[in-house]
Amino acid sequence: MPAATPPSAGRRIDALPGPSPWPLLGNLLKVDPLRMHTQLERWADEYGPLYRFRLGRRKAVVVAEPEHIATILRDRPDGWRRLRSMQTLIGEVGAHGVFSAEGDDWRRQRRLVMKAFDPPHLQRYFPSLLRVTERLRACLDAAADSGAAVDLQTLLMRYTVDVTAGLALGIDMNTQQHPDDALQGHLDQVFPMLMKRILAPFPWWRYVRLPSDRAFDRHLARVHDAVEGLIAAARERMAHDHSLHDAPGNLLEALIAARDDEGSGLSERDLVGNVLTVLLAGEDTTANTLGWTLHLLHTHRDVRDELVEEVDAVLGDDRLPSRFDVARGFEAIEQCVEEAMRLRPVAPLLILEANAATTVGDVALEPGTLAMCLMRPGAVDVRRSADAREFRPRRWQRDPGQRQDALQKASMPFGAGPRLCPGRYLAMLEMKMVLATLMHNFELVSVGTEDGSAPEERLAFTMFAMGLKIRVAPRRLH
Ligand code: HEM
Repeated sequence: MPAATPPSAGRRIDALPGPSPWPLLGNLLKVDPLRMHTQLERWADEYGPLYRFRLGRRKAVVVAEPEHIATILRDRPDGWRRLRSMQTLIGEVGAHGVFSAEGDDWRRQRRLVMKAFDPPHLQRYFPSLLRVTERLRACLDAAADSGAAVDLQTLLMRYTVDVTAGLALGIDMNTQQHPDDALQGHLDQVFPMLMKRILAPFPWWRYVRLPSDRAFDRHLARVHDAVEGLIAAARERMAHDHSLHDAPGNLLEALIAARDDEGSGLSERDLVGNVLTVLLAGEDTTANTLGWTLHLLHTHRDVRDELVEEVDAVLGDDRLPSRFDVARGFEAIEQCVEEAMRLRPVAPLLILEANAATTVGDVALEPGTLAMCLMRPGAVDVRRSADAREFRPRRWQRDPGQRQDALQKASMPFGAGPRLCPGRYLAMLEMKMVLATLMHNFELVSVGTEDGSAPEERLAFTMFAMGLKIRVAPRRLH
């Protein structure tokens, strides 16, 4: 594995191949922000797995080699950090938390977040998860009765927000049954605006507020009101029950207890920011991964049949999975999700910034240079395996003693190293619950765009399938 060492000799970044930049805007003019990852992937085909890029005036290397990416991701928080300008932008919308924190600040917050999402917390949360899943089934029942096509992303995002809010904040938001006052509708505005601002050559919103900025401010105000209300309610609960300070039941209580603890270094702003961080981090990622998985299952009948067979065998006459069902397995579901994340990673581009002089491969980088890590090319590289572009979930079959194959090692949908996604167990649990419930109770009539064309990838911080609709029919098994 290549090591990130200070540069001595080595190639200079300007010696790398790459698209030619404009003086101030760099390569941004040639990139549509909504399709940025696919454009960068096409250039990786043309220029190779390590090429130069200019993000405005900032020098960058685009890295598509999984071994180099893993080395960079592991060398955090000391060697590399998340993009500094992204930290400022996330702070501007009041969402500064574990995702954007660095150094000791990050270490402190990371400990709290990791604990809140650990397996014992997930187990305790199971009864509430079942209730949220039951509501999803009721929504799908209604869709099956009417025969209507339902917007898949909205349906799934309401589910994921309800689950994250239940687990991390201890509240039953129920956006599935009360969509009109759904916080989720306002949260959904945050990622697209952040993406637009990250890629803006000039920070116009700091000087003039366009109508779109004013509309965004209104959404943000609703989000902050809601979050502050949640924090106030949790504080009241904790004032009545002091044991919650010593043994917090969820992330929000843990953050409040840490905030009240003198010397914790956690500010009120960090508290609000982390609530927003987990709501945002847990929403689109899981919902979009489920969307892509369902689309792939719909287009691969043989895989779908195998998965339904497994689910039927586990659930029998039950309509929803129990905690024992989930603990025992759903291996076929896990394999389908892993494979879907390999082909359609919802975080296809991670942008990092070098804290000090370093190297990537044989290229010497100055402090402040950006590494734009392309997470997909290595995992779908036909030189690693001839069937790399095909949807073959069985490649993830666990064979004791057998080493991971080259594609599995190259696939890093949850990132890598010390900042690996802390929500991965929750995400997998949610995806098992949704897919088992859906495939056991319903036929997939269609999963696709309204005009029947292949769904296009769009990047708005996370990568989603544009205009994906689902139509289901009841399976008359019960
Ligand atoms: C399929 C679903 C998900 C995917 C694909 C995903 C992917 C990722 C990725 C790629 C990162 C960056 C990792 C890195 O920098 O190395 C990340 C970070 C993070 N994710 Fe997830 N995620 C998912 C679900 C969730 C859920 C459900 C939550 C919580 C409710 C969550 C919370 C976070 C947080 C807080 C971070 C920041 C961690 C840090 O910087 O220390 N994610 N996720």
